[in-house]
Amino acid sequence: MKLSTKHLLGIKHLTPEDIQLILSTAEQFKEVLQRPVKKVPSLRDVTIVNLFYENSTRTRMSFELAERRLSADTLNFAASSSSAAKGETLLDTVNNILSMKVDMVVMRHSASGAPHFLAKHIPAAIVNAGDGINEHPTQALLDAFSMKEKLGRLEGLKVAIIGDIMHSRVALSNMYLLQKMGAEVTVAGPPTLIPKYISEALGVRVEYNLKKALQWCDVANVLRIQLERQNQPLFSSLREYSLAYGINRRLLDSLGKDIVIMHPGPINRGVELDSDVADGGSSIILNQVENGVAVRMAVLYLLANREN
Ligand code: NCD
Repeated sequence: MKLSTKHLLGIKHLTPEDIQLILSTAEQFKEVLQRPVKKVPSLRDVTIVNLFYENSTRTRMSFELAERRLSADTLNFAASSSSAAKGETLLDTVNNILSMKVDMVVMRHSASGAPHFLAKHIPAAIVNAGDGINEHPTQALLDAFSMKEKLGRLEGLKVAIIGDIMHSRVALSNMYLLQKMGAEVTVAGPPTLIPKYISEALGVRVEYNLKKALQWCDVANVLRIQLERQNQPLFSSLREYSLAYGINRRLLDSLGKDIVIMHPGPINRGVELDSDVADGGSSIILNQVENGVAVRMAVLYLLANREN
């Protein structure tokens, strides 16, 4: 089976079959990663550039590791230490890199739509590693993989996405993916951080009361406040945000049921999650990070395979 798309720009354009194919391929790679020899020759002779115009810890290391485990040749580009700082355009930078015979581009950019723009102008396959407030497709795929691994299914699952829905690309990609796979989604947070017509536009429920959202869900995917993307105050203070929307042990214990806690990282401890929740038995946060490598291996492998 092959993916229906040449690039992975977002979840929006994937079919449920594409998602299923990526998740089942990732299962096979996860099995490979448990072996003493974790490297496979699948992408030998494929050259991939990791083009990061925005800060990243997990996502960049996870892609790099996935590429190495697949035996690809990799190049790393960080905008802060490159000629982008001298005024070169994105398209010029990428065309120069591609002239060195690079096959795939993994890209993170603070401008929403940057990878979509590039896809119209260059022949190489592009993987979106996060574009502004738009999408972060591999994060949603690794989140789905981790939910499925923990709870055995996506269909019928109740997932609450909590926090800064407005500025989170993780939230949007998760909303698309979960609903395509038959899960139910509620977004929860302060009214100023939830887009007004989100129910009509995306089919999700909205809940402003944190406890009610937690009582409803099987899984809570908790997000960081994306302060770097807010140019005006949207809530009074982080302390007050934490009082109304922070999750602590006492709140979890008061639900009278077990729920799974997820977070894409980086966590702001004591704001959206207390340490006893982030590090507690309900949390699968580090499993998400582990699964990210297998999921990214699957994406790169399937896109490279499609070209042949
Ligand atoms: C997220 C991102 O960069 O969009 N992090 C990640 O990729 N793991 C979320 C965030 O920055 O809060």
